[in-house]
Amino acid sequence: MPRALIIGVTGQDGSYLSEFLLDKGYEVGAVSRKTSSDSSWRIGHILDRLQMFSADLVDQSSITKVIEAFKPQEVYNLAAMSFVPHSWEAPVLAGEATALGVTRVLEAIRHSDPAIRFYQASTSEMFGKVSQSPQNEDTIFHPRSPYAVAKVYGHHITVNYRESYGMFTCSGILFNHESPRRGLDFVSRKITRAAAAIKLGLQDKLKLGNLEARRDWGDARDYVRAMWLMLQRDEPDDYVVGTGQARSVRDLVEFAFAAAELEDWQQYVETDPKLLRPADVEYLVADAGKAARVLGWRPEISFEQMISDMVTHDIQELTRARQQGQAVCEPRPERWKDV
Ligand code: NAP
Ligand code: GDD
Repeated sequence: MPRALIIGVTGQDGSYLSEFLLDKGYEVGAVSRKTSSDSSWRIGHILDRLQMFSADLVDQSSITKVIEAFKPQEVYNLAAMSFVPHSWEAPVLAGEATALGVTRVLEAIRHSDPAIRFYQASTSEMFGKVSQSPQNEDTIFHPRSPYAVAKVYGHHITVNYRESYGMFTCSGILFNHESPRRGLDFVSRKITRAAAAIKLGLQDKLKLGNLEARRDWGDARDYVRAMWLMLQRDEPDDYVVGTGQARSVRDLVEFAFAAAELEDWQQYVETDPKLLRPADVEYLVADAGKAARVLGWRPEISFEQMISDMVTHDIQELTRARQQGQAVCEPRPERWKDV
């Protein structure tokens, strides 16, 4: 049985990658950090099939111990402080976890078994203020947040360990990907959740920031397949993964409200200057030609299908919560301006 270790298993991608690898017959080691509240809701249904470990990217010995104990053949580093506004609130922590954390994992691999194949969750945010469109593996980076700066470090150190030590390290430069398991703070889920809540009469208004920002939004269930494909090649390399289609936040709102059968989305949506970022990324769109050519990867779930799934899921979840008298989680306000 092949053995894969997923760091960041409690996140959106960690949960889908776990399911994907279990279906392929892998023994899956799953790393989460110790927190005071339970964060395993996305993997509750497969917990008994995972080997759970505790480790934190800011703590070298915890990472080293897990890798030595589980002895994986593949390691997927999906852990990061992934919500961009949080990185302005805690820029040093962003660097510790999202940048240096990658080196900690690479060092643990290098000293325990340098033959382990490593996947690093890089991001289209590294392109930031873009120099060309669409963006591919050769596009220069111009990061626009402490998060993106940290990810650029993570990307380069991943390439560097390949070049310095001949290790099998890959960097997946993934564009935005969403799903019904997306965190409530990210704009897609904030919108689908609000459309569902408004439809059910639980909410009146939705406050948003920059409606003109454009992203290349794909579905997380497609993107975890690309991660795995990268580690199955004969040679390690870096790949851009995206759909090649950009849409604005405004387009997303329009589509989600229509999916909830709400006419005239403008009457519900307000823009709030407090939700604008100190520096935003205005336009990202992928040229994923290399992933298609070399990995045979193509997205299978359309934007429309994904947003419809998210709206349907949110309507069902809120309906159930209401029937059972449960409290409903809300997105947190973006707070960086109040600090
Ligand atoms: P996510 O849902 O926010 O999950 C992030 C995971 O990282 C969580 O399991 C979190 O654990 C863990 N984590 C955070 N800090 C940690 C630390 N110090 N030590 C150990 N674990 C830590 O993110 P996602 O959407 O699944 O994304 C997965 C990865 O891909 C991230 O690195 C993200 O930056 C990158 N990425 C995402 C996208 C996207 O559109 N989704 C695009 C490009 C790249 P807790 O549950 O304890 O918080
Ligand atoms: N979150 C949020 N909330 N974003 C808003 C809002 C709002 O109320 N209003 C407008 N936006 C705009 C943001 O300014 C940004 O331009 C865009 O919507 C997308 O924001 P997010 O969904 O928070 O995602 P992101 O693009 O900043 O980052 C995500 O994708 C990256 C890949 O490009 C995260 O998943 C990152 O971890 C990932 O690397």
